Amino acid sequence: VYAAPRTTQQLTLQEKAALLTGDTFWSTVAVERLGIPALGLTDGPHGVRKQRASPDTIGLGDSIPATCFPPASGLASSFNPALVRRVGQALGDEARTQGIAVLLGPGVNIKRSPLCGRNFEYFSEDPLLSGELGAAWVGGIQSRGVGASVKHFAANNQETNRMTVSAEVDERTLREIYLPAFERVVTSEQPYTVMCSYNRLNGVAASENHWLLTTLLRDEWGFDGLVMSDWGAVIDRVAALKAGLDLEMPGPLPESSAEIVAAVQAGVLDESVVDTAVARMLHLVQRTAPAPDPKASPELPAEMVAAHHLLARAAAAESIVLLRNEGPILPLDAGTPVAVIGEFARTPRFQGAGSSQVSPTMVDTALCAISGLTRVEFAPGYSLEPKGDSAHLIAEAVELARTSATVVLFVGLPPIDESEGYDRSHLDLPAAQLSLIEQIAAVNPRTVVVLTNGGVVSLEPWHDSVPAIVEAWLLGQAGGSAVADMLFGVVAPSGRLAESIPYRLQDTPSYVNFPGENDVVRYGEGVFVGYRYYETVDVAVRYPFGHGLGYTTFAYSDLAVSRRGDTASVTITNTGNTAGAEVAQLYVGAPGATVRVACRELRGFEKVALEPGASVRVEFQLERRAYSHWDVATSGWMVEGGEYRVEIGRSAHDIQLSTTLSLPKPPVPTLTLDSRVSDFLAHPVTGPLLVRAAGEATNGEASLLTMVASMPIRRLMRFPGVGSSFARIGLLIALANNPVVRWVAAHLPHR
Ligand code: GLC
Repeated sequence: VYAAPRTTQQLTLQEKAALLTGDTFWSTVAVERLGIPALGLTDGPHGVRKQRASPDTIGLGDSIPATCFPPASGLASSFNPALVRRVGQALGDEARTQGIAVLLGPGVNIKRSPLCGRNFEYFSEDPLLSGELGAAWVGGIQSRGVGASVKHFAANNQETNRMTVSAEVDERTLREIYLPAFERVVTSEQPYTVMCSYNRLNGVAASENHWLLTTLLRDEWGFDGLVMSDWGAVIDRVAALKAGLDLEMPGPLPESSAEIVAAVQAGVLDESVVDTAVARMLHLVQRTAPAPDPKASPELPAEMVAAHHLLARAAAAESIVLLRNEGPILPLDAGTPVAVIGEFARTPRFQGAGSSQVSPTMVDTALCAISGLTRVEFAPGYSLEPKGDSAHLIAEAVELARTSATVVLFVGLPPIDESEGYDRSHLDLPAAQLSLIEQIAAVNPRTVVVLTNGGVVSLEPWHDSVPAIVEAWLLGQAGGSAVADMLFGVVAPSGRLAESIPYRLQDTPSYVNFPGENDVVRYGEGVFVGYRYYETVDVAVRYPFGHGLGYTTFAYSDLAVSRRGDTASVTITNTGNTAGAEVAQLYVGAPGATVRVACRELRGFEKVALEPGASVRVEFQLERRAYSHWDVATSGWMVEGGEYRVEIGRSAHDIQLSTTLSLPKPPVPTLTLDSRVSDFLAHPVTGPLLVRAAGEATNGEASLLTMVASMPIRRLMRFPGVGSSFARIGLLIALANNPVVRWVAAHLPHR
């Protein structure tokens, strides 16, 4: 831990306790006499929400204008860490300008179910992609001296009862799916802060979960920053402090500081625990020095606004996923007049609702942007008002579609359908929009559907009725221009799905366990989240993780993997006649694993831009983790060895090249009386001896051993009459553990 400076010793206990609780909703306590400044904290992951009104209220919606970049579900589709880092840098510049020392993001929770109301604010169903992009975001923002707050730690994968629900997650699933993104961010970028989540993890509130906040986060991962609570996540302040939660937010909460003082004075809380938390608070002050003034609320400089709007437009363009393009109908010819239909084209929905909601510096609409590229006629087609009358709007839109050469139809989820604070109950577009799509497709075969949604929506039953479908997510303030640029080929689409699109909600792996009951949600699907489930159990989806089309084509060749599997390389060629970007995805599978593993898991990805005819050799660096699973018996990562499948895919389903790799098995385990029969059977020396001994004892029915394979030998020997057959078990164990025998066993041909 950061060595507590002299300052800590100069603080009174009351001052120390005050430092560990927010001073206002959005700032920490200052101790002027010692030169400790207040620090401004605010949301959020895709834009600075520095509220104008009094800092003592949550103030949703009345913040100072700032650039609204694409929320995470859009940005993740770029599969471009360098781009995300640039967005992080821009956010850092805006945060500092507006008096913010810590920006509360990124959100890296895994998209366990497409129903989660806050999926717009999270990156992916895949831990590697979430971790890489979350790390890029943190690296970007902290390069400007502004702290990040990676959140929500951990297993906050739903909004239903988020403050009380217990996420029941087995150890391996936690380690392989729900923790790796946090681990990647912490170990590669050292975020200045981590935000603990509201929920309980296996029955223990995250805010007072010592294993989570100290044993794992600090002792195992080496986190050296400050842990703050989500707003209102603390239940018992003293228990939270002991668990490793340093700062309770929001403030002001004098009773919280008083609890700390009273606990120290009563001898139930050691003052050294308080000093450690204070030292982390002072470390944060040091890292963000010179502290921007949280009371400052300047407008952003004009040149920053302009530059960041262009960056938001570029980021939005890379986040668009072209799902379907029959014909191909896209890109449209700029000379072709189009009918633009859908209120979202005129009134864009470009971000999600809740704490992350930004007041944008400006907003581009697709209608204006398209009007700048070709002749346009417009019809709203539906109303965004909850009770808007759609019948006449549909009729008007259908009539326009009937008489137009091409239709670009903007549909999507109204703001009320998804938000922080509650989950969705279905994946469908509003009924009026479904009717509109069908009726327009019926009168005009040249209809391009553009989707506006934070969480995945179902494309049924209308998918086959239209030749082109663009997944435009929520793209931030410049999304309208980005969509127009993509539709008319100013920019080629290069986004890829960071979340699978199922045919039906019932097909999703968490369907029977989401959102749980009686304040408990069981992660019964285990590690089989998203494509890990669909690909392993062969459930068809409408579009798989990693899918996305461009305006050109690519070929893959010459996949090579080093003998030890630490590097893999492949050549990608642009075989089309226009420039484009491709996302090569590297997957690894372990068909011989002794535990249930997904048939493939993303272990690397690389986005490359290529001119027509050009080729590039892409190299992936693979760590041991690429071939590991979490072994609960030893509470550690294990490479089992044997055969692995290394694949290059355009998606989790569209595998282009595949090869196999053989890795050495781990050293032969030492045996004890508490080893299982299966351990003795797997041992190259004791295995054959045991089978022969069993054969003699059971008239050759060695299958008895299979039946008792999971039993510890010591327990098996307590069965009447069995012990004598194992009289020489001690000799067998000594033989098995003999160093010479172990060396020979380790060098026998693969067992
Ligand atoms: C909210 C969110 C969290 C946000 C915080 C401050 O409840 O869960 O993401 O940063 O409170 O608004």
